[in-house]
Amino acid sequence: MVETMTNVKNMDIGLGAKNRKHVAQALKIFLADTYTLYLKTQNYHWNVKGKLFQPLHQEFEKQYRELAEAVDTIAEQIRALGLSAPGSYKSFAQMTSIDEADDSNVIKAEEMINQLTQDNETVIKNAGNALKIAQDAEDEGSADLLIERIRSHEKTAWMLRSFTA
Ligand SMILES: [Fe+2]
Repeated sequence: MVETMTNVKNMDIGLGAKNRKHVAQALKIFLADTYTLYLKTQNYHWNVKGKLFQPLHQEFEKQYRELAEAVDTIAEQIRALGLSAPGSYKSFAQMTSIDEADDSNVIKAEEMINQLTQDNETVIKNAGNALKIAQDAEDEGSADLLIERIRSHEKTAWMLRSFTA
């Protein structure tokens, strides 16, 4: 995505335009990951079957609702840095490293749990990379957001793992 510097040059939140743009780029990728995981978790909320239907249907709902809130917070942080927030499946698909759910092959509940556990772990690692960029830019606001997201995904991964332990 091409972003001109003209719309960020007059801001003064204590961060240079270059740093804001750099951090916002990392947040855009993190937004794409979060949105893709949000949609995938909701997909599994809809399509889960079997003995664990009720608890997983509920757990996945809790998770996708939390992810929906996070998506909004991340996008608005990008705006707070003076950049535009991506919001299309096309740009999210280009930026994310999370594999979408395969609608042509509805998988078993256990496989859903395994996939979502790994996806949350991927998001934790990607958030860690974005955090390093925010810390290097001395962008405390974005760093704080990312730390909170890492903690949340760590908890989610633990809860998912516990279903099959
Ligand atoms: Fe529902």
